[in-house]
Amino acid sequence: MNKQQYSFEYEVYDSVDELSEEDAWLLNEAREVTQNAYAPYSRFEVGAVAKLSNGEIVAGSNQENASFPAGLCAERVLLSSAASLYPKIPVETIAISYNNINGDSGHPISPCGICRQSLMEYEERVKQPIRLILGGMEGKVYVIASAGALLPLSFSSGDLK
Ligand code: THU
Repeated sequence: MNKQQYSFEYEVYDSVDELSEEDAWLLNEAREVTQNAYAPYSRFEVGAVAKLSNGEIVAGSNQENASFPAGLCAERVLLSSAASLYPKIPVETIAISYNNINGDSGHPISPCGICRQSLMEYEERVKQPIRLILGGMEGKVYVIASAGALLPLSFSSGDLK
């Protein structure tokens, strides 16, 4: 028996003001895009905005449904749009923000488990890491160099071979 360890580094900023101009712009866009969420059930509006390697900007927001499992997270809405509009073009960076109508929106949130799985496969598909900028409407911001780092020991296409 031997023990394995997994760790990863990420950057923590006190606020959006500490980010580069481009990263701050993306995060502020993600904050804006929360307004396009359809979240009448959770009242938790999530916005995601991506910069692709061809310079295009793609946005997504969570889209819920009265049949709850049919709802989609902002991240997967964004990835589906990006793949449909710009197939094979790497997604360089995604900024994710949220507006919690019933509560606090002042700390970063991290993609849910299903979205981590989708983000990781997107990285695999285009063979390039997706950088994440995570921040609420205010407060600290996390920057993670690769979405895949959020999903250690993951199941992936290689396992199906
Ligand atoms: N949600 C997202 O869109 N992204 C996340 O990273 C976390 C959760 C959505 C799903 C649901 O519509 C609402 O937020 C509450 O879970």
